[in-house]
Amino acid sequence: MPESRVPFVAGNWKMYKTIAETESYVPALVAKLPVGKPVDIGLCVPFTDLAAAVAAVGDSEVRVLAQNMHQAPEGAFTGEIAAPMLLELGVHGVVLGHSERRRDFGETDRALQDKVPAAIAAGLEPVLCVGESEDEREAGETQRKLRHQVQEALLQVDDEQLADVVIAYEPIWAIGTGQVATPDQAQEAIAFIRALVGDRSEEAAARVRVIYGGSVNSENAGEILTQQDVDGALVGGASLDPVAFAEIVAATP
Ligand code: 13P
Repeated sequence: MPESRVPFVAGNWKMYKTIAETESYVPALVAKLPVGKPVDIGLCVPFTDLAAAVAAVGDSEVRVLAQNMHQAPEGAFTGEIAAPMLLELGVHGVVLGHSERRRDFGETDRALQDKVPAAIAAGLEPVLCVGESEDEREAGETQRKLRHQVQEALLQVDDEQLADVVIAYEPIWAIGTGQVATPDQAQEAIAFIRALVGDRSEEAAARVRVIYGGSVNSENAGEILTQQDVDGALVGGASLDPVAFAEIVAATP
């Protein structure tokens, strides 16, 4: 990875952990983090944990992210959360388009087209998730799927702001399955995603961070994180244990 791109490692807790669990997790993580390593560390926590997480990280280098947001700044959208509400809590960024939201909650590329620029405009760092299913990979459709998802979600982002987005390549077949992508598979897909950004702006392609997610753990992280185009990881299950997550952070080059 060129020095211009600082690695980004985030834990996606999904629907795990209460406020009490957040308050014991964060100090345990901070105590185990490698000192002085150039790496951006994020925790993507449930909405109910955001305030507690922000308070617990204090002035450590850990940033707190939400796992979704609505594209409108406010409105009659029962059960939704808007960017200004996240900002008010001191939240740093937001995961958008996770495959679980696409699959289980009807998240669409069209909505993401509005959500990504809305997050940037609000000053939140968006982590845009893309990835193919097992069937799509077997049918040789991986690049077509990635092209579609990346182009659609970034359509309304100015070229100058493309590098403000973190893109997470999360092959659906690798999420929660223990079937991690090989380092070559991760590198190939992530280089392809970088090239897609390069179709819009070469300068943005050199700066944008593209990270890998799907069954990353402390054993396999090192090999994946040292691939040339892989700028970090989005970690699900293994991030629930602060010690394991700190080990993954330490595995960044
Ligand atoms: P796992 O690490 O549990 O496979 O989850 C990956 C993921 O979905 C992170 O967003």
